[in-house]
Amino acid sequence: MSDAAMKSNAEIIGRDRVNDLEAVLSVVGREEPGGIHRVEDHCAAEFTWDYAKGARPKLDKLYEKAKKAQWNGSTDLPWEIEVDQEAVVRANAQANGDSERWATTDVSGTVLQSWGDKEFVQFGIENQNWMLSQFMHGEQGALLCTAKIVETVPWIDAKYYAATQVMDEARHVEVFSRYLDEKLSGHYPVNAHLGLLLDDIVSDSRWDMTYLGMQIMVEGLALAAFGFMHMTTTEPLLKRLLRYVMADEARHVAFGVLSLQELYGELTAAELRERQEFAFEAAVRMRDRLSLQEVWDRLGVPTKDIIKIMNQAPERDDFQILLFSKIVPNVKKLGLLDAGDGWLRQKFTELGVIAFEEWTDSTEDADAFADGSPVERMVS
Ligand SMILES: [Fe+2]
Ligand SMILES: [Fe+2]
Repeated sequence: MSDAAMKSNAEIIGRDRVNDLEAVLSVVGREEPGGIHRVEDHCAAEFTWDYAKGARPKLDKLYEKAKKAQWNGSTDLPWEIEVDQEAVVRANAQANGDSERWATTDVSGTVLQSWGDKEFVQFGIENQNWMLSQFMHGEQGALLCTAKIVETVPWIDAKYYAATQVMDEARHVEVFSRYLDEKLSGHYPVNAHLGLLLDDIVSDSRWDMTYLGMQIMVEGLALAAFGFMHMTTTEPLLKRLLRYVMADEARHVAFGVLSLQELYGELTAAELRERQEFAFEAAVRMRDRLSLQEVWDRLGVPTKDIIKIMNQAPERDDFQILLFSKIVPNVKKLGLLDAGDGWLRQKFTELGVIAFEEWTDSTEDADAFADGSPVERMVS
């Protein structure tokens, strides 16, 4: 492929420098009037007359597992647990050493200079409300995308499996929404970067792009993020909720890898390049959303202050990097890392996440092919 055909960063992500924080922070998600958001869906719905179940044995196996792995968000979670959000924020901070980290961050010359315990706790509370809100919006994105895959994927085994994922995602939206309403103290609109990504995924006319954007990128990142929160929260209801959701997500990501593997073996170099660029765009958008713009905005912290704070928070980088632990090995398994001249390998190296290529991919995740529901398996 000639250099002329290569898209620049500005064309793919709307800015030249990946780490241009000012550009990242200039995009803030807002509540939409009317409370709805409509995206044009350009896909053709596709019938198949080939009903032979099991033609793709790995997808068929996943479908059989999924039927037995269902759980009930109303009755299988301990909703009776009372959550004192402020106490949870304090306990989490204690357990994870947050206050020591803040103590070593230089906040002089920023609004945070005048913050005391009350303001930092409020930040923790808003952070939780924001994070769980984004999980909920992302889950709705997954619900819509998977319903779309049922329509557009040409193989009956994939349509069957995707139908089980639609049910899983409905349950995820339900439990995150309920947790926010009953246990936390406020909602946030969808983060601007996540919103841009979801719009791109939904409006793309090629069915494999739905999979790549959702199952590989968004869900790959979500699985890692849920794992991180599962590990760091001290709140038992949320811990259980996340663990159950993760058991489903492992299947969803495996579904993406198993489905795309077959297709990507047949694509041309130019078609693979487009997939590489889309994966890179998604990676950057998901990293950008972790800048918490909407939280800073609500707390009245100006952009210049946020940049100063973010530029000296190495633990935030660790978290960001860890979030790519599922994506990178899966993208490698699909051949996207090294396709063409290894363009995506180069981009992931620049993002600092390439080391995860050696980690196991999601087709080997024990949760994906486990027998029985999380309730029966008594996962903890
Ligand atoms: Fe989900
Ligand atoms: Fe999912």
